[in-house]
Amino acid sequence: MGTRTAIRLIRKGKTVEVDGFAPTDTLLDHLRITEGAVGTKEGCCEGDCGACTIALGRLRDGRLVYEPVNACITLLGMADGAEIVTVEDIGHPDDPHPIQECMARHHASQCGFCTPGIVMALFCLFHERKAPGTRAVVNEWLAGNLCRCTGYRPIVDAAIDALSRPRDDAFSEKRTKAESLLQSFDDAVDLVIELESRFFAAPSSIDALAKLYGDHPDATLVAGATDVGLWITKALKDMPKVIWLGRVAGLDRIEQTATSFLIGAACTYSDAEDIMASIDPDLAEIWRRIGSKQVRASGTIGGNIANGSPIGDTPPPLIALGAKLELRRGEAVRAIPLEEFFLEYGRQDIEPGEFVSGILLPKPAPDRVFRCHKISKRFDQDISSVLGAFSFTLRDGVLSDPILAYGGMAGTPKRARKTEAALDGVPADDAERLQAALRCLEEDFRPLDDHRASAEYRLDVAKALLGKALAEIGGVTTDKTRLRGFREAEPVDG
Ligand SMILES: Cc1cc2nc3c(=O)[nH]c(=O)nc-3n(C[C@H](O)[C@H](O)[C@H](O)COP(=O)(O)OP(=O)(O)OC[C@H]3O[C@@H](n4cnc5c(N)ncnc54)[C@H](O)[C@@H]3O)c2cc1C
Ligand code: FES
Ligand code: FES
Repeated sequence: MGTRTAIRLIRKGKTVEVDGFAPTDTLLDHLRITEGAVGTKEGCCEGDCGACTIALGRLRDGRLVYEPVNACITLLGMADGAEIVTVEDIGHPDDPHPIQECMARHHASQCGFCTPGIVMALFCLFHERKAPGTRAVVNEWLAGNLCRCTGYRPIVDAAIDALSRPRDDAFSEKRTKAESLLQSFDDAVDLVIELESRFFAAPSSIDALAKLYGDHPDATLVAGATDVGLWITKALKDMPKVIWLGRVAGLDRIEQTATSFLIGAACTYSDAEDIMASIDPDLAEIWRRIGSKQVRASGTIGGNIANGSPIGDTPPPLIALGAKLELRRGEAVRAIPLEEFFLEYGRQDIEPGEFVSGILLPKPAPDRVFRCHKISKRFDQDISSVLGAFSFTLRDGVLSDPILAYGGMAGTPKRARKTEAALDGVPADDAERLQAALRCLEEDFRPLDDHRASAEYRLDVAKALLGKALAEIGGVTTDKTRLRGFREAEPVDG
């Protein structure tokens, strides 16, 4: 099969091809500089403020879904196969979109710098018909959009007003046409855009990826670019060879058997949301607090693991659940316990030309109990200071086979092996032995000490999180240990 040499996308209802761009060109620069579509703003340029939010329409299970994306850290090539929608496309002063009209009616914009991004995040919510237009849902959808001057109350009021109306607009009318155009883009050929000696490549199969990365082990793999994008915009790193994983058939799969899940490395956080919620409500909560809607629509589980960060949110719960990591290099596939992937700070068990292909996640046995909690400075859109994830077998009131995994406590995500040994076989109501076991955390960890949290604070938090989990497992009711209705109770003031 041949190779395609231009990306193909829908822009303003038409098929557009773009070629001859550099591998590190961002979608925001393309929109603002090449197209002159300056309605989309550049604020932080690191995925935090949401000013650059646009909607990318993609087929998900055959249905067109509009996902909010931070254009500043999305590479232009990653728009292949999508519909790009910006704030200019959805309405204008004489014929505003319902979201735009309500923003104006509720005085929800002052300097207006944040407004295009907020409108586009809400445009995506407008098209997410299953999501009710409640204050809680709107707050969650806007967690990745900062406003410096208006205050959030009028913005959220505008959103609730717009979402209470029929959710139909010009894009609803054109949905079928857009879906068939997007369907026609699925050509299953490899994509390579070369510019001088540089390339942006997007293989279409796992075999093609293995071959290409084997031939170019010096290339940078890019999945959601929520880390890599910042290397470009903030570290000004040159990346002459980019291999994007977003078109690799099967790398975003989620399969399940009676006993396990197989999650493809290129699965985004959003793709895996339902599976995680089905495993445990604590895991659903962790998932909902990773970044923002924009970050979760692009960021992948494989990327979160492969970057080796000591404060990535997915490794601790996946380790506590007994996950294995599947890696592929050329034809060779191997699987290792996830915790063994993290060798030391900045060093992982991965060879040149090797990539993460999937995560094998066993379904917890019925007598296994699981708890996990993330502590960060802000509730939303913030990196963890400490994340603790714990699982135990609980049989006849006795704890056994504990797995206690922490993020933020060492140079890598790490198990608390001494504490695990101290808890094995302890009755869940033996307060004295449980307390003694908690003190073992002092032997397990010499925590990180940085601007996010001091070592002393991290150790206190690690003990408190495990103590809370043990208290709940021992029978303390969750009305004493959990904040309920936190989001619903959020003040309406800005
Ligand atoms: C605003 C913002 C908020 C964030 N909030 C959080 C948060 O709350 N919690 C959290 O944990 N993280 C957070 N992050 C970090 C980031 O979202 C995650 O680390 C994300 O999972 C990275 O995935 P990605 O697909 O975007 O990776 P990319 O940026 O595409 O890649 C990251 C690294 O992994 C490598 N890589 C990617 N896929 C593979 C693969 N299959 N095999 C081998 N190597 C691979 C890349 O080469 C690169 O080195 C945040 C980031 C931003 C910008
Ligand atoms: S400019 Fe701030 S998120 Fe993109
Ligand atoms: S209106 Fe000024 S930043 Fe939101």
